[in-house]
Amino acid sequence: MEIIVTSSALAQHLATLRQHGKKIGFVPTMGALHEGHISLIQEAKSITDIVVCSIFVNPTQFNDPKDLEKYPRPIERDKALLIAAECDVLFLPEVSVMYPENDPHWEIDLGDLDKIWEGKHRPGHFQGVTQIVYKLFQLVKPDIAFFGQKDFQQVMVIQRMIDEMKLAVQLHIVPTLRDANGLALSSRNARLSARGIEKAYTLSKALRYIEQHAHEKEVHTVIEEARLMIENVTGFELEYLAICETHSLEPITKVDDEKEYVVLVAAWLEGVRLIDNMLVH
Ligand code: PAF
Repeated sequence: MEIIVTSSALAQHLATLRQHGKKIGFVPTMGALHEGHISLIQEAKSITDIVVCSIFVNPTQFNDPKDLEKYPRPIERDKALLIAAECDVLFLPEVSVMYPENDPHWEIDLGDLDKIWEGKHRPGHFQGVTQIVYKLFQLVKPDIAFFGQKDFQQVMVIQRMIDEMKLAVQLHIVPTLRDANGLALSSRNARLSARGIEKAYTLSKALRYIEQHAHEKEVHTVIEEARLMIENVTGFELEYLAICETHSLEPITKVDDEKEYVVLVAAWLEGVRLIDNMLVH
């Protein structure tokens, strides 16, 4: 695996590969890799010729400085996992590479996607995400970029940026990986105690409950029941839980049996903010 730290070296390396007709797949990450990330690498390997993974803990998407500070950075372990997964290129830039002095101000119109759920609870988060993903897309120029369904709203936001800015990249969404008890794999899980992990199982249980009962109960009833499942676990603090339209992410009050929806949830546990989602067919 090539490890590249400057944008010029990355551009040069990829330009040569592109000239040889190679299709470039890109997996942007913030490191602290787990099997969910590796499944993105594997998916990328199965449909592209060269897989580039970036590891960059992007400061502009953290609205809470403490969260940025605490973000895990096990870089040697990450490198070993990427080598084992046969990733071709790791791009590992310093903050000064991605945000040079006099970097222009970034603001993109994300419509309501920036104002609801994650956008509401983490002001400026999606501006930071789009800013870094745009910069990375410009450097890597991938044919296909791979993102996990775990960050459902993030995927919608990036698709919107691609459409608005007419970027020549295709998004490929990979289903969320879960552990044997249903917990969605996330780098943040590493900050939970063993007891916390056990409590966290309730989040996906509540989503599964909604998924199973959304067609037979009133929306407000099923949400209320799932809310209680979460809030009855000591230490959980629910931020939001709703059944939403899959494109606008607007919450619904009535299920149309012909349509697909997504249940979105965010909750705090042991000082860790957990998010998850599940499709309702
Ligand atoms: O999902 C993430 O890990 C990050 O938001 C991303 C897409 C790598 C941008 O920093």
